[in-house]
Amino acid sequence: MPTWVQLVNLACAVCFILALKGLSGPRTARAGNLLGAAAAVVAVALPFIYLDLDHVPLILGAIAVGSVAGVVGAQRVQMTQMPQMVALFNGVGGGAAALVALLELHEMLPHEEAHSWFVFAATAFTILVGSISFSGSVITFAKLQELMTSRPVVFPGLPVVFGLSGVAAIVLGVLTVTGPTVTIGVVLALIGLLIGVLLVLPVGGADVPIVISLLNAFTGLTVAASGYVLDNVVLLVAGTLVGASGTFLTMLMAKAMGRSVTNILFGALKGGSTLGAGEASDRPVRSAGPEDVAILLGYADRVIIVPGYGLAVAQAQHTLRELVDVLTARGTKVDYAIHPVAGRMPGHMNVLLAEAQVPYEQLVEMDHINGDFKTTDVVLVVGANDVVNPAAKTSPGAPIYGMPILNADEARQIVFMKRSMRPGFAGIENELLFDPKTTLLFGDAKDSLGKLLSAVKAL
Ligand code: TAP
Repeated sequence: MPTWVQLVNLACAVCFILALKGLSGPRTARAGNLLGAAAAVVAVALPFIYLDLDHVPLILGAIAVGSVAGVVGAQRVQMTQMPQMVALFNGVGGGAAALVALLELHEMLPHEEAHSWFVFAATAFTILVGSISFSGSVITFAKLQELMTSRPVVFPGLPVVFGLSGVAAIVLGVLTVTGPTVTIGVVLALIGLLIGVLLVLPVGGADVPIVISLLNAFTGLTVAASGYVLDNVVLLVAGTLVGASGTFLTMLMAKAMGRSVTNILFGALKGGSTLGAGEASDRPVRSAGPEDVAILLGYADRVIIVPGYGLAVAQAQHTLRELVDVLTARGTKVDYAIHPVAGRMPGHMNVLLAEAQVPYEQLVEMDHINGDFKTTDVVLVVGANDVVNPAAKTSPGAPIYGMPILNADEARQIVFMKRSMRPGFAGIENELLFDPKTTLLFGDAKDSLGKLLSAVKAL
């Protein structure tokens, strides 16, 4: 490889690291994303310049098909469907790495002695983990897109089949090193596909995003190993970065939901439910109209907004920001309390509110704002439910038990904006809805916020 190519590869790897750094904050995320994408384009284009490639029209055709699918998919996807799109892209990455490794195995076999045992071990790893990542991601996609039940799927003997598949994978991995054949590689890939399905089936819907992040880490490791097999430094660095950041994200999300990764993956096998019943309650609650809520808000000194999934569904972020602007102009101190898993994807509320140009300093993370609820006059819960449900502290056995929540229950008044008495994602009743301090403003969040805004302006 010429020195200039190595230097460009190094520059791409540095850009990937800088891109990750950029992605860690909302102000710099867009620039980070563009930098990473530009480096990826350069890294892909490079072999066309310095190598004498075969099958160029086929490769260009494949790139064109992939690019069109990626651009059209990314433009069409709703913000609320982002997790399943990430799952699909991630799975395709893992599957591609596994296929490349199978082809490499086929190419290496005629000169088997020219390669160290470690190259074959890395190839076996790529085939296995890439296949797990592919089939696991397809199942997570199907669960989130509601093409299949999002409840945990378990059947008698699942742990045994899972264990036997694991043993088979180890044996086939060893065989790939000691006496490799293409057939062994293909069977290893099939076992990987089976393990991926068995790994994700028992995971309940609420935990699926964590599994997506875990599979993302798997894909990263697969790509890193294929970088070793193909002697490609950019793949090695990019894969290691994805593997490391995916692992961190998995651990952070698991912590935010108060669960261990083992419990998320295997909790259902021990009989624990990860999704509740989901019935709408018919217990009496106190409800009010926009004018009454406007009076509560208009005369409060301190208000905290708790945004949730319903805000994204209603696309009410702009109206909400207008309301907060009016309240702030009246002298009320208003902040947004951001729960780490509010919505349906990491950073969902940050992205949504940034789109409405809410100043970043008004978005306060859970750990920083939880002490403020005691001295808050009104908490306005807009399309959120599970992230303020006290069952997370008080009901062992509830699917969200152990998840840290926003202490909305400590405020003087709580107003919930939602359409019905249906529960949130975890499918369980929220006792806070029946608290004497709580008022419900029923209706679509955008519609209700519009009426509330007019009523506050008229005060
Ligand atoms: P949820 O608990 O799902 O509650 C959303 C609420 O929004 C529901 O009460 C719903 O009630 C209401 N709603 C829906 N559409 C609405 C609309 N158009 N107008 C007004 N209200 C509307 O949301 P959350 O509090 O944000 O909690 C997130 C949940 O999702 C957690 O359980 C979390 O573990 C899980 N989860 C999180 C992630 C990540 S990474 N963020 C990923 C997957 C799952 P109505 O139907 O009565 O209106």
